[in-house]
Amino acid sequence: MDLIARLTEEHQDYVIKLSTLAETIEGIRINGRGDYFIETLDGLLVPLTSQLDDHARREEDFLFPRILERAPDSPIPVMLEDHEAIREASQGFARGYLLWRDGDDDAFNRWVTFAETLRGTFSAHMQKENLILFPLARRVLSADEIARLVPDESR
Ligand SMILES: [Fe+2]
Repeated sequence: MDLIARLTEEHQDYVIKLSTLAETIEGIRINGRGDYFIETLDGLLVPLTSQLDDHARREEDFLFPRILERAPDSPIPVMLEDHEAIREASQGFARGYLLWRDGDDDAFNRWVTFAETLRGTFSAHMQKENLILFPLARRVLSADEIARLVPDESR
């Protein structure tokens, strides 16, 4: 699997995780705090913060520079702005969630707003990458160049 295919697969996985997040928020709104919800959210914390950050960093470090070399007018600046917005929402969610989890009931609306922003921003951004940027990358880079986008040992 090449880097672009792997990033696309990860996008799908984040869509699932973000809908679990939304369902969990709904559950808390209806039922209030509960161990089951906390466990689910604790499990989403690392994937939706440091792993998501790492996913974006792999796009930024390995893919975006190669696309820019071949297609200087490509929408990379927009993608980078999206990444910043996603990182902000992700960090806001994590910070607020931890406060709420540890007893600060007033932090609920704040982390939920960040979580909803994260889901909306990520899903719009991911569609731009899947439908515009990645197909563009496949047009401007050769199959060989795409295969070399990742270090050998990770293939
Ligand atoms: Fe991205």
